[in-house]
Amino acid sequence: MFIHFAKLVFYLCIHKKSEMMIEQLLTHRTIRKYKNSPVEEGIVNKILEAGCRASTTGNMQLYSIIITRDEKGKAALASCHFNQPMVMNAPLVLTFCADFNRFNKWCKLSNAEPGYDNFLSFVTAAIDALLVAQNVTIAAESEGLGVCYLGTTTYLAGKIIDVLKLPKGVVPVTTLTIGWPDEHPEQVDRLPMKAIVHDETYHDYTDDEIVAYYQEKENRTDSKKFVAENSKETLAQVFTDVRYKKNDNVTFSNMLLEVLKKQGFMNQ
Ligand SMILES: Cc1cc2nc3c(=O)[nH]c(=O)nc-3n(C[C@H](O)[C@H](O)[C@H](O)COP(=O)(O)O)c2cc1C
Repeated sequence: MFIHFAKLVFYLCIHKKSEMMIEQLLTHRTIRKYKNSPVEEGIVNKILEAGCRASTTGNMQLYSIIITRDEKGKAALASCHFNQPMVMNAPLVLTFCADFNRFNKWCKLSNAEPGYDNFLSFVTAAIDALLVAQNVTIAAESEGLGVCYLGTTTYLAGKIIDVLKLPKGVVPVTTLTIGWPDEHPEQVDRLPMKAIVHDETYHDYTDDEIVAYYQEKENRTDSKKFVAENSKETLAQVFTDVRYKKNDNVTFSNMLLEVLKKQGFMNQ
């Protein structure tokens, strides 16, 4: 009898924990304004340790995380992120790097010849680094912290490499600004699940489906404001002509390819 009761309590606890976890994920919002108070060392260590429990290719842990708290360091990084205000505003800036340098060194010291100076290995290490970043995000949010990713990391990766003194074999792939939230923004939209999930094989979209799936996004007041502010006809044009333009994409792609070559990831 006691064993049955204990089992029931155990299952109820697991169920409650899972509900809390899912609720946290479902209420995620990016935080771009932070209070002027530091994140205690103990919490930083806790979220980093939780982050590094993410799955990692072959358990090789092909990543490094650079912590920047210092005002001078943040100012140097801010200029690599087009001066997005979160970098100076956040008490903590974490740069997540794809890193084969450490693993290559271990191989060489162990009479093993590393074969990781290629693009596939960069992608492998980048995936590892991104998984850690997302685990850190979830851990930080569960502590009540707010987080913003900086996609600009791969735009001016070469500059970040200089600022953070990253050796060959190391490439920054994403950045998180982290701090105690000083805003509670509205949650932004997501596409309906049926637009995202395919059953068994990929179901390519008809024009009608595309129109239907993007309708809610296009009809939002903030989207309409965005279109008007940028003097565009459609929301998609805000993406193609203003936010993520072809010319910029090509320029930054070429710069990133140069960085990958310099850092030893282009099949040399
Ligand atoms: C890889 C990545 C890069 C991002 N880069 C930036 C950025 O440079 N600046 C910014 O303000 N937000 C950035 N974001 C945050 C997104 O704009 C945000 O996640 C998206 O609008 C959805 O909002 P939500 O996170 O509040 O749901 C980035 C997010 C990701 C995942």
